Amino acid sequence: MGWRVAAERNFLILGHRAHTVPDWKLDDLCGGGGRLDVLVRCVTAAMWVSHGLRRDTDVWLLLQGPPAPPVAVHFCGATVRYLNPDERSTAALVRNGLVKLRDRDSVESSPGVTLHRIDLAELLTRLPPAVLLDEAGNSNVFPELPLTLVLGDDRDPTEEERESLAGAPRICLGDRSLLSSACITLAHHALDGA
Ligand SMILES: C[S@@+](CC[C@H](N)C(=O)[O-])C[C@H]1O[C@@H](n2cnc3c(N)ncnc32)[C@H](O)[C@@H]1O
Repeated sequence: MGWRVAAERNFLILGHRAHTVPDWKLDDLCGGGGRLDVLVRCVTAAMWVSHGLRRDTDVWLLLQGPPAPPVAVHFCGATVRYLNPDERSTAALVRNGLVKLRDRDSVESSPGVTLHRIDLAELLTRLPPAVLLDEAGNSNVFPELPLTLVLGDDRDPTEEERESLAGAPRICLGDRSLLSSACITLAHHALDGA
């Protein structure tokens, strides 16, 4: 499966427990899905404006839960179809992707939705420069686009993940610990005004 990374804005969310096979129900994203609810909320925050999509933005959900991590789910703003603002239908796109991935290395499961078996370190080499959104960050200024903004899910990045991100600037969005999806909205706001 070829790589087409053209987006100016990329959001990469680290799903620490998100399941890597479709062994969960759409009614149980939080429990059985391994906090997939956090991840699909991030997709909505990153991709949607009122009545439309941000075609300059891609989202990468890195699923790292059992039983076969890692799997990256790529939502391509330029080409995605059948994406709706509600979280349940976004989760259904992820679920359908995991069904179609099976034992393959990658698959386009729906227009603009692609799954790859790739880890964080490898993914970072293929994306625009990374910036870590970090409560303990030491800057509030975003570098110039194109960028890959990296966030934790309901948990902060692990030590191993931080090692992969060692060279990335760390941006703090204030002294409160915010939801990942709220951080994405604030980041878009900052970048929209730049
Ligand atoms: C819900 S927070 C992580 C959990 C949080 N550290 C805690 O234990 O309460 C999810 C992610 O959002 C980002 N984040 C949250 N608050 C932030 C802030 N004030 N500045 C920058 N990033 C933030 C970080 O990437 C973080 O890993």
